[in-house]
Amino acid sequence: MIEKLLKKIDSGTAVVGVVGLGYVGLPLVREFTRGGMNVTGFDIDPAKVKALMAGRSYIEHIPSSTVREMIRSGRFTATTDFKKLSRPDCILICVPTPLTKHREPDMTYVEATARAVAATLRKGQLVVLESTTYPGTTAEVMLPILAETGLKVGKDFFLAYSPEREDPGRKDYSTKTIPKVVGGHDRDSRRAVVACYKVAIDTVVPVSSAAAAEASKILENTYRCVNIALVNELKRLFDRMGIDIWEVIRAASTKPFGYQPFYPGPGLGGHCIPIDPFYLSWKARQYGLPTRFIELAGEVNVSMPRYVVARLMDALNDRGKALNGAKVLLLGLAYKKDVDDMRESPSLELIELLLEKGAKVSYNDPHIPKMPITREHKLKMTSKPLTAANLRRSDAVLISTDHSAYDYPFIVDHARLVVDTRNATAKVRRGRDKVVKA
Ligand SMILES: NC(=O)c1ccc[n+]([C@@H]2O[C@H](COP(=O)([O-])OP(=O)(O)OC[C@H]3O[C@@H](n4cnc5c(N)ncnc54)[C@H](O)[C@@H]3O)[C@@H](O)[C@H]2O)c1
Repeated sequence: MIEKLLKKIDSGTAVVGVVGLGYVGLPLVREFTRGGMNVTGFDIDPAKVKALMAGRSYIEHIPSSTVREMIRSGRFTATTDFKKLSRPDCILICVPTPLTKHREPDMTYVEATARAVAATLRKGQLVVLESTTYPGTTAEVMLPILAETGLKVGKDFFLAYSPEREDPGRKDYSTKTIPKVVGGHDRDSRRAVVACYKVAIDTVVPVSSAAAAEASKILENTYRCVNIALVNELKRLFDRMGIDIWEVIRAASTKPFGYQPFYPGPGLGGHCIPIDPFYLSWKARQYGLPTRFIELAGEVNVSMPRYVVARLMDALNDRGKALNGAKVLLLGLAYKKDVDDMRESPSLELIELLLEKGAKVSYNDPHIPKMPITREHKLKMTSKPLTAANLRRSDAVLISTDHSAYDYPFIVDHARLVVDTRNATAKVRRGRDKVVKA
């Protein structure tokens, strides 16, 4: 079986199926079609499939022209019909892995996809999980469902894990140039997964098992989470000591080795960093080991929006104003600069805290004209134009996300008070007395 599959991949006749056409799945589709493979995209959301087939992208940093290029190549099609999963030789799974209300791994999407794949599993298929998850998921969640078919892993079909390292909005690296870690369940699964990704990705990094690949992704994200917590904690301390954390980080960054800068902010956001470490701490409990670093980092990061609101309240107070009844214009709803993704964005938490305190809140985000309803937040707001009059009418402007599209001198010029959580106004010279870092 393995030789047949490898031959198909090498000759470019293998078909790739990508399940979950979101921020991770769509760039993968692009790279495999560019690599000359035939790709079928699967999603449960008919609106996404319809948009793609009409040549329209729904992700800001993937232009519609790229989708049209994929369609024109004749190598891409998208469907909601999961019976067609029997066709691809290599199936790459990129479905969500969120947390439940109790901050535990929500594996329902991965399980549902594994069942859909199992329903049509045939000899010679390679199944790869890409969704971020705890070490052990491929062997403990995916495999039992696929094995129910009676087909044998490593012999009849192949199973692997390869973590996605997508960083939306990044210009210096792309899906193709970011090295891809892969871990097979067994020797032949490893051969299959290496061969598959070599078609589309410049550098493939094999590790000894699927669990090692799963763990490498969690290490990367936990490393970020812990280091961001560290600078967030230091920000509060240094502020009290009259020291500017941004200046300190800039100075420390001049060390050519042994230091990597991380930057403070209003809290953690995005689909990965606030969530993934909790997948590991959940798993660690099964082994009777606490992950104290992760818990502590989570605690510090989660407390940041409240800290920002307290700083805003103090700044208003210094100007003889209460937060209750104050008009606050929040800039940047996305969880990081220059993207249209607001999942887990601290801006949402900030808005809710401000509303709780009686503030009249509006927002502006050039990337998110209308606030979509999310699982946790049911706010109905639309982006307010960033005009001189709107800035002047606000008692405070709160910079939550430092989008490049913002004209910061203009903002400071017209605002009465600017609370800056990202040091976005660092280069603004005029009106510094109106800026408070938080
Ligand atoms: N967004 C990132 O930057 C990023 C980076 C690295 C890793 N990841 C990980 O990749 C995974 C996917 O994240 P994403 O950001 O692409 O999510 P997303 O929400 O953008 O996309 C997921 C897609 O899966 C679809 N879907 C849901 N259930 C499905 C099912 N049963 N069958 C088929 N399709 C289904 C959804 O409709 C959606 O289109 C997650 O595990 C995430 O942690 C994300």
